[in-house]
Amino acid sequence: MPRSFRFHTSLLPLLIMAGTTCARAADCHLRIDANDQMQFSQHQLEVPAACAEIEVTLNHTGKLPAATMGHNWVLTRSKDATAVATLGAGAGAQHNYLPVNDARIIAATRLIGGGESASVKFSTAGMKAGEDYTFFCSAPGHIAMMKGRFQFKP
Ligand code: CO
Repeated sequence: MPRSFRFHTSLLPLLIMAGTTCARAADCHLRIDANDQMQFSQHQLEVPAACAEIEVTLNHTGKLPAATMGHNWVLTRSKDATAVATLGAGAGAQHNYLPVNDARIIAATRLIGGGESASVKFSTAGMKAGEDYTFFCSAPGHIAMMKGRFQFKP
């Protein structure tokens, strides 16, 4: 076995440690699509808990306008998702179907129509690794089809 190979092998644990404690910026930026069939492209998203900030970009790949097939991306603790979606539906499109000043909303994009995209960047200071989070669209009735698990992975 060449000497240089042994040298690199001995460094491996250090490299692995560095990888888990210091998330790359790319790992902290998620992208998800939504379409005219009222679907997200993914039902599970995960981010390393090492991310101090997370950015999510929602891309609406459909053609329908926001008034008929608008989507947003909302993150809450899983136990809060249904209540926030119900209040959001009542808040109306002028509020992006989000209850105003509701502390249960960890992050949310604005409502977008086909061909548009929107991003939200948020701090993870109030989040806990391993806690159960859910992302969903809060347009009226959409949570039935447009929701998924969000893992903030230790
Ligand atoms: Co939607």
